[in-house]
Amino acid sequence: MSETTLVLIKPGGVNRNLIGEITRRIEARDLKVVGLKLINAERATVEEHYAEHRERPFFGAVVDYLCSGPVVAMAIKGTNAVKAIRAMMGATNPLEANPGTVRGDFALTIDDNLTHSSSDPEAAARELGLWFPEGTVG
Ligand code: CMP
Repeated sequence: MSETTLVLIKPGGVNRNLIGEITRRIEARDLKVVGLKLINAERATVEEHYAEHRERPFFGAVVDYLCSGPVVAMAIKGTNAVKAIRAMMGATNPLEANPGTVRGDFALTIDDNLTHSSSDPEAAARELGLWFPEGTVG
């Protein structure tokens, strides 16, 4: 089933020049980029994005981190895109991420795990509305 999901390349990934590598992997999988922007995220957008984590001890730190530099927001479309992208990014904690995944290959700590991707189709719809209120292409 064709789905569209959100990928964020966090400030650490942008800073380490991984925009191309991460996007290359996504496109090589035959998933389509249907939205793409490099932005300094508004704090309110990031707080809304991570609303489910508001009571967690790391909430303030993760919001600060997402606001610490430019992020790439991408809308990615394709068959089973939500699960395919999650698998490609690897476990949230890079120490548990398999080699061959983005985090398994390029990250070491959960605080700097390079990307965010939507956890399920409902989260994807909510997050795409937040980061692409203007809509996506296709
Ligand atoms: P992400 O997929 O963007 O969703 C929430 C983020 O919070 C997560 O990736 C991590 O970057 C960050 N985070 C920091 N500490 C933790 C933690 N203990 N558990 C889960 N996420 C954490």
